Amino acid sequence: MFDAIFSRRGMPSKPLNSRPADDRDGESFALRFQKLKAQIHSQLVEMIDISKLSHWKPDRLKREVRTLASRLVQAVPETLNQLERERLVEEIMHEVFGLGPLEVLMNDPTISDILVNGPRTVYIERFGRLEPTNIVFADDAHLMQIIQRISARVGRRVDEMSPMVDARLPDGSRVNAIVPPLSLEGPVLSIRRFGIRLTAEDLLVNGTMPKDVLRLLQAAVEARLSMLISGGTGSGKTTLLNVLSRFIPHDERLVTIEDSAELQLQQPHVVKLETRPANLEGVGEVRQRDLVRNSLRMRPDRIIIGEVRGPEALDMLQAMNTGHEGSLTTIHANDTRDALSRLETMVTMAGFEMPVTVIRQYIASAITLVIQLARLKGGPRKVMRVSEILGLKGKKYVVKDIFRFEQLGVRDGVAVGEFRATGYVPRCLTRIRMAGIDLPDDLFAQRVLSVEEAPSTLSLSSWDSIDEMESSLTQASSAES
Ligand SMILES: Nc1ncnc2c1ncn2[C@@H]1O[C@H](COP(=O)(O)OP(=O)(O)OP(=O)(O)O)[C@@H](O)[C@H]1O
Ligand SMILES: [Mg+2]
Repeated sequence: MFDAIFSRRGMPSKPLNSRPADDRDGESFALRFQKLKAQIHSQLVEMIDISKLSHWKPDRLKREVRTLASRLVQAVPETLNQLERERLVEEIMHEVFGLGPLEVLMNDPTISDILVNGPRTVYIERFGRLEPTNIVFADDAHLMQIIQRISARVGRRVDEMSPMVDARLPDGSRVNAIVPPLSLEGPVLSIRRFGIRLTAEDLLVNGTMPKDVLRLLQAAVEARLSMLISGGTGSGKTTLLNVLSRFIPHDERLVTIEDSAELQLQQPHVVKLETRPANLEGVGEVRQRDLVRNSLRMRPDRIIIGEVRGPEALDMLQAMNTGHEGSLTTIHANDTRDALSRLETMVTMAGFEMPVTVIRQYIASAITLVIQLARLKGGPRKVMRVSEILGLKGKKYVVKDIFRFEQLGVRDGVAVGEFRATGYVPRCLTRIRMAGIDLPDDLFAQRVLSVEEAPSTLSLSSWDSIDEMESSLTQASSAES
């Protein structure tokens, strides 16, 4: 919960509007409700003796503010019914202590993204689909005030001089705000929620991948193969990285490097590092590259980079090639080849003159598996390909697909298709077996893979291993039949 910020900035300070409430059709009721709320909020702020606030415990403070808000709301001349008045009090509390009109969305665990395009347009994503909402802000200033409150948590102020900010909410949600003059539609706020943390079994049950694919990925993590998770925006890269990181043995020392901490590692021995943007004077920036280099002196067993975007790619590959196998990262790319060529570009950003074959050699020997993700029509996320990088032939990568998703069409607006094993038995199987992990050859036999149906008796608790999960799936389905 936010600390109370009783700021006068941006809030209108007019007497209460006394227009009758039955002109609801003229101006939308939602908008008038917002304006009324803004007026009461500003009255409230003016009535509170700020010097007293710091002495009060948060509970007392909320109680006092609520009492005052109720009194002000009861005095409103508008013909609001009791339910509307109660809602008004609740929303004023959200204005004072929280995210204003967004608070109701924040309390809905099924919402994964909240996208505010100026004060009048708020979209949400739910179960992979975008939908408009009827949430509105009173005006630009109201929305700006919420943005300032979020930014203040990371010690930033958003204004014309620094019109973009990345921040995080107390629940871990990732926030980006960009305001005029860079955005033309008024202040824009994008919130990626982490209300629901998807687990390995969620990804099986919702058809992101079949369990045979997950079984290979688990084995690859345990056997310390380096992997690159590639995909477009919102395709589920970070989610998969989180899921796979659960398979890392607990006796390893992990260092995570991110722009804004999203990874939630369950292991006991994790050092989390986060980049820092330059301050207002333009100094003090710490880039991912600095952190990767520093991390090498921290005796990590594995390095996990949330998303590789720039010259740190070179240091990361160097690390992978020199004893930090098992490192994991994600990259923004639309297919496997694209991922490799972007990685090449990033390596060249490090500023060394290197022939392209050398760079490719470097990449091919560092990375063993590339997992390509996509968000398909209608919202489903799929593991489109799991490919092994075998090396170079001449100047070209030798890449073999192990598993693939083939889209067959669209049903009710949602893409459908099937997963296939290509029949290729990966070379890394030898390394997996040397690590003492038993994967049968027939896991890779050419066929269509079956996808889990969600058994109704299944709880979404977390299993620690695929074996454990399999046995509970079997139990669940035998209990059903
Ligand atoms: N396999 C999945 N099935 C259903 N929903 C998913 C899946 N993976 C991710 N999501 C949802 O999609 C949203 C984006 O997920 P995530 O942050 O993992 O994507 P990303 O590819 O890392 O995005 P970005 O490009 O912004 O970094 C989240 O709300 C998440 O809950
Ligand atoms: Mg991500």
